[in-house]
Parts: sequence; structure tokens; C-alpha cells
Amino acid sequence: MPDTDLQQRKILVTGGAGYIGSHTSLALLEAGYEVVVLDSLVNASQEALRRVELLVGRSLTFIEGDVRDRNCLDRLFSKHDIHAVIHFAGLKAVAESVAEPLAYYDTNVNGSLTLCQAMQAAAIFRLVFSSSATVYGPDAPVPYREQMPRGWPASPYGASKAMVERVLEDLCAADSRWSVALLRYFNPIGAHESGLMGEDPRGIPNNLLPFIAQVAVGRRGRLGIFGSDYPTRDGTCERDYVHVMDLAEGHVKALEHLGSSGSYAYNLGTGQAVSVLAMVNTFQEVSGKEIPYDVSQRRQGDLAAFWADPTLAFDELGWQAQRNLDDMVRDTWRWQAANPHGYSAE
Ligand code: NAD
Ligand code: UD1
Repeated sequence: MPDTDLQQRKILVTGGAGYIGSHTSLALLEAGYEVVVLDSLVNASQEALRRVELLVGRSLTFIEGDVRDRNCLDRLFSKHDIHAVIHFAGLKAVAESVAEPLAYYDTNVNGSLTLCQAMQAAAIFRLVFSSSATVYGPDAPVPYREQMPRGWPASPYGASKAMVERVLEDLCAADSRWSVALLRYFNPIGAHESGLMGEDPRGIPNNLLPFIAQVAVGRRGRLGIFGSDYPTRDGTCERDYVHVMDLAEGHVKALEHLGSSGSYAYNLGTGQAVSVLAMVNTFQEVSGKEIPYDVSQRRQGDLAAFWADPTLAFDELGWQAQRNLDDMVRDTWRWQAANPHGYSAE
């Protein structure tokens, strides 16, 4: 049976200072939970958490630490009565994972193993895991459905997500006390509607929306569109973009649903595919800024088009994306225009 009495309980959010984690921490506080964030700040700023507190008018507990540090986790679990864990902490740059596979397997796989070992020792068995649509692998038919088998993702990053899903399934099969949600995100974009929080990538952005936003705000000259000869409506790749606040609310729903023994995978996407050119056009319309671009070669590893069948998350979690493409782009632009250098004051 789903647990309906989770509010006022303490949730550990690993990687909670990051892009999706900070928005989810805000949604958790707004829903009445207490939040403990564990983050090494390797790819985040504590300023994001300050803004969460400012927006919600409540404080959270921040612990700077590494999810691979068992002693740190043991101390955390003995000090705080944690009801459930949402595990975002990890590395996520696909190309970097090809160049540095050991770092990615260590952080994403070993980090998850260490977390589960510490949770088990502390008798905490409720977990929401940040997975990805990449686990369906390059050969899966669209739309992606949860009952399809996992594929073999091309990158170490994708493989690390598929491996952790398998570990969590095995753990649930071996011990019925575990209750795990595997949330497979499609392409998260957007920002909190206040414009105070958003995505703040370090260095040159790998992902489409942050790159477009930085061109619009004058930090980059031109967008490179990676290929226009795909078998899609306009020749550019199509993706299922989902607003980060919809995603955050999906985590709250998944948390509320935890309680049944076992592991459950859910797609968090809109079910709609949007091309790169359509995204550029929408951004120009919404922001009023021109986005100069060049079409370059395909990026290695890119798939032509994929999108979610989000039916299961609706049927079982009662979750459905509420925000449309204009909302996603408008909120991205509000954040980027008000914070041209992200959370840093430069
Ligand atoms: P992010 O980099 O903004 O957040 C990850 C956070 O984890 C950062 O705050 C970082 O400092 C922290 N972290 C990294 N290694 C750590 C460690 N060893 N110990 C403690 N903290 C550590 O990324 P995000 O976009 O918010 O993604 C969150 C999760 O969702 C990641 O696991 C990512 O793989 C997954 N995901 C993201 C996307 C996406 O497009 N953003 C898509 C699918 C899945
Ligand atoms: C990428 C990862 C995926 C990961 C996801 C979220 C790859 C191959 N895949 O997905 O595993 O889960 O990020 O972090 O890296 N594009 C451009 N120009 C740019 C940037 C992107 O044309 O400067 C295009 C890409 O070719 C793609 C689309 O925009 O078709 C979206 O790209 P991106 O935001 O990087 O997401 P994915 O490639 O879908």
C-alpha cells in the first residue's frame, strides 16, 4: 500500500544542490517535508540552496560530503532520522564519461552501492533513484515503455545508470523491505518560475537548452546544430523535453507512493518530441532574441528521436507533466536573463 503519511518526515537528498536536486528540494519543502541535502559541490553551488530557502521561507540541513564516504553516511544516518532517500548525486556528462570511465563508474555505481550499504545498516529501505531514458539503449523502439527490456547504452554514463537499476532490482528481489522507484528522466530543461533558480553548467554546456540560453544572453556566439540529415520531420534530432519543476513534483509523487515492496520504473517525460530547430524557433519567439546557428556534423552517439510513453507514471503515481514547451523556454530565459553567470556573482 502506498504510504500516505510521509509529510513532516525527513528526506535525504543526495546531490541536492544540483540542478534537479535543488528544484526537488524546493518541492519537498513546499510539500511539508524536512530536507537534508548531502552534496560534495563538485558540480553545484551552495547558493542554489540559499535560494531554495529564500523561496520557501524554511530552512534545510546542508552537509558537504561525498556519497562514496561511508563514514560520512553513517554519521548522517545516526544523527538524522531519515525516512527515505532521493539519490541524485552523480556525474552526468556523456562525453566526459567516455574519456574518464573509472571516475563515472566510481561515482555513479560505487556511490550508489555505498549509499545502499549505509542505508541497509541504518535500516532505511525507501529509495528514489535518478535514472535516465538512456537505459533503453540505442536500439529500442519509440515511444519508450517501462516494460521494455533495458538495452546496452553506448556510454559509460548510460551504462552506469543501467547497472545501478539492476543492482537495485537485485536488492529488492533479495530483501522485501526495500521499496525503490527508478525514475527515468527524459530531457529535463526549464527553471523555477521565480527566475531565482535554474541550470548552471560549468564550462561550455553539453546540453541544448543551456547552450541556446547562453547564446541568447551573449555568453556564446553561435549555436552548433549537430546534424540536419536525420530521418525526422525537419532533419534535426527530436527529444522529449520535460520541465524541471514537473520532474521535481514527480519525485514527490514517487516518494508518496513508496511503501510497496520491490522496484518500480517510471518514465518522466511529456510524451511529445520536439526537434532542435523547433526548440531554436520557440526560444527566439519567447525571448525575442536571435539565436544565430550553424549546422555542423552529427554528434557521435546521438539518436535521431526518442520520447516517453508517460502513461504508467500517470496511472500509478498520478503524475503528468503540467508545463508546456513555452513554459519551459520562458522559465529558462527568465533565469538566464536575470542570472547571466548563473549562481556566481561575476
Ligand atoms: P547536477 O550535476 O546538477 O547534480 C548532481 C549533483 O551531485 C551535483 O550537485 C554534484 O555536486 C553532486 N555530486 C556529484 N558527485 C557527488 C558525490 N560523489 N557525492 C556527493 N555529491 C555529488 O545534475 P542534475 O542534472 O541535477 O542530475 C541529477 C541526477 O539526475 C544525476 O544522477 C544525473 O545523472 C541524473 N539525470 C540527469 C539528467 C539531465 O539531463 N540533467 C537526465 C537523466 C538523469
Ligand atoms: C544527452 C545525453 C544523454 C543524457 C542527456 C541528459 C548524449 C549522446 N546523450 O542527451 O545520455 O541523459 O543528455 O543529460 O550526450 N544539440 C545540438 N547542439 C548542441 C547541443 C545539443 O544540436 O550544442 C542537439 C543534440 O544533437 C540532441 C539535442 O540537441 O539532438 C539534445 O541534446 P542534449 O541536450 O545534449 O540531450 P541528449 O543528447 O538527448
